[in-house]
Amino acid sequence: MEPSPPTPDVSPADGAWRLRGLFRRRRTPMTRVRPHRLGQVPQQGRTDAWALSVRRDFPVLSRRIAGRRIVYLDSAATSQKPQAVIDAISAYYRCHNANIHRSVYTLAKEATTFFEAARSRIACFAGGRPDTTIFTRNATEAINLVAYAWGRANVRQHDVVLVTKMEHHSNLVPWQLLCQQTGAELRYLDVSADGLLRLDDLDAHLSSGRVKLAAVAHVSNVLGTINPVAEIVRRLREAGAVVLIDGSQAMPHLPVDVQQIGADFYAWTGHKALGPTGIGVLHGRRELLEGMEPFLAGGDMISTVDWHTSTWNQLPWKYEAGTSMIDCALAISAASYASHRYVGLSITEISSLTADWALGLLPTHVPAIREPCAVLHLRAVLAALGTGQPSATQRNGTETHAGGARADAVPRMR
Ligand SMILES: Cc1ncc(COP(=O)(O)O)c(C=O)c1O
Repeated sequence: MEPSPPTPDVSPADGAWRLRGLFRRRRTPMTRVRPHRLGQVPQQGRTDAWALSVRRDFPVLSRRIAGRRIVYLDSAATSQKPQAVIDAISAYYRCHNANIHRSVYTLAKEATTFFEAARSRIACFAGGRPDTTIFTRNATEAINLVAYAWGRANVRQHDVVLVTKMEHHSNLVPWQLLCQQTGAELRYLDVSADGLLRLDDLDAHLSSGRVKLAAVAHVSNVLGTINPVAEIVRRLREAGAVVLIDGSQAMPHLPVDVQQIGADFYAWTGHKALGPTGIGVLHGRRELLEGMEPFLAGGDMISTVDWHTSTWNQLPWKYEAGTSMIDCALAISAASYASHRYVGLSITEISSLTADWALGLLPTHVPAIREPCAVLHLRAVLAALGTGQPSATQRNGTETHAGGARADAVPRMR
């Protein structure tokens, strides 16, 4: 376990400014930034020394490009990796490299043990269970797994597949294909003028009695909105729909408990949450996972193979075809431990600071940004850039938001 950060020796506002200084040297007088925004930032035990030590944990940030320090704001696309994650990959190849689930020699037993320990750790980290925590290549593959293995077997003509207008295309295109191939209808849950999901619209869709499956982002990469997923899942499941939540932008920023959210499927991706590229996670409901046919075939997912037929392995291996990404599993596990130091409050705090700093400063210099709609779009851009500051939040059915600006919730192509 990482030691807790030291107790603050500065006032909240001072601390905010000092932390902000990590991202950019201050060139503008402090008075130009709206102070009330800084006051909203949680300041829980963070000091300059602590923040600098966090920065030092990310080796790439010690690089200079064109003679200048790197300021990285693209974490929504992929996060940088702390030393602990790089070390986990290196240690696996230096000391334990062997294939898993098949051999009894020491290296192979170690690799298998570490791989399954990583699964248990990730299950625990997300509030799930190891046997229903499936490793995929990324969130996109996790969503496709559900679209193919559950969707093709259960969605029929005249059924409705419900998505929202704030999805990443990885949580949109698989459903478009499913609808094209099954004759189901793809419908969109609307977004209000201030960037929130129209939950009254949800009731209208559910009243048709045809919604078979719904796929909703936990945190939108388009707007930065945090959706009240537990509430949405409850209403959808009461209406008999199967629900997939795309947690790709939530896992790096929020404490997530998949049991508490209660979705049938919860998908996320490792590389946005300090982990390596090449690994994603699907948490699924046991009854559904057991009833589905495999998505990909061959390798670890078989139990027996005959000339004409085969039988499938137990959960979770039934959905892990071929040789798994062993190094990535060890690394995502290391990332989850490291995240106690960086993610959650600290990243949200840093995110808030950066977003608030930009939102406070830019309108002073760029007159067009004084318009409310420009502020909302700026928030979306900041969210997409990785500052993670939501433009609006909806929690437990209570809506709070920063402004009443218009948003065109067009899916963002990355
Ligand atoms: C909300 C959301 N879902 C899914 C994805 C896809 O993630 P991956 O490319 O790792 O599959 C992204 C990536 O930007 C995302 O932001």
